[in-house]
Amino acid sequence: MTPTPIIIDCDPGHDDAIALLLALGSPEVDLVGVTTVGGNSTLAKTTANALRILEFAGRSDIPVAAGSDAPLVRRQDTATHVHGETGLDGPELAPAVGSAIDLHAVDYLAQEIRARNGKLTLVPTGPLTNVALLLALHPDARPERIVLMGGSVGEGNRTPAAEFNIWADPEAARRVFDSGIDVTMIGLDVTHQALITAEHGARMRATGRTGTLVAELLDFYGRWHEHMYPDLVGSPMHDPVAVAHVIAPSLVDVRPARIEIDCSWEQGRGRTNVDWRGRHDTPPREGHVVGLGIDADAFAELLIERIASLG
Ligand code: BDR
Ligand code: CA
Repeated sequence: MTPTPIIIDCDPGHDDAIALLLALGSPEVDLVGVTTVGGNSTLAKTTANALRILEFAGRSDIPVAAGSDAPLVRRQDTATHVHGETGLDGPELAPAVGSAIDLHAVDYLAQEIRARNGKLTLVPTGPLTNVALLLALHPDARPERIVLMGGSVGEGNRTPAAEFNIWADPEAARRVFDSGIDVTMIGLDVTHQALITAEHGARMRATGRTGTLVAELLDFYGRWHEHMYPDLVGSPMHDPVAVAHVIAPSLVDVRPARIEIDCSWEQGRGRTNVDWRGRHDTPPREGHVVGLGIDADAFAELLIERIASLG
């Protein structure tokens, strides 16, 4: 089977970092490159963190292109309360040796999409600023599919209405969902079911240095979730689920939907209004797909196995 070429557009971020490692350990996908965006932390930090993870995994051959440091319209909102000052607090991870390539993420994305005649899946796991700018600046460079982590059918996590990635740049999100490209939304409804527990962490730690890194990331990342979501047993693996859906599509229960982004400046700002029940006045939009559930045990096993494969 030919691996699916993917680019992860991310803001590492603990779960972004684990998503990168999951992709590196999975033969079903070919991680062509990594693009970064300001989100969980500033662009300088998310870019350094992407480099640190690739270097840790011995994959500094994979290019990292730095992108947008500010949302299209709103002021930047970071998530230091979840990911710490560095964006990747917890483990002792060496500083990056290499640096990002000399091409803006948006131009790099266009280059790679064109080189493959669009046959590339884009996996955004941060705010959608880079993707919106790609659509605006390079309208001919359209990936055949976007599988993104963001949004929620139900409750948000940054505000009662909004999930962080969409909240961080709602105008960009609207452009992406309105683009006509096939967009699969992996939101909190799915990722809050994809919980990695302390026991899972211990199993990963026992598999080697990569498993130990993931376990240490989880130790830090779990603290905020324990505080905010005492009802959840374990930490939600938001970004890895988007990658896992590309690797093993049947893990996630997906439905056609109609997804609209609230760009008002009211309480609903950043909310993804998702109709998957097919109400007569909001028919599904061509290409819109929403994840609603996941085989959580199978996901955890996949993650543990793929992290273990990295040694
Ligand atoms: C998303 O927000 C970020 O903090 C995580 O990395 C994830 O992409 C979850 O809402
Ligand atoms: Ca992220």
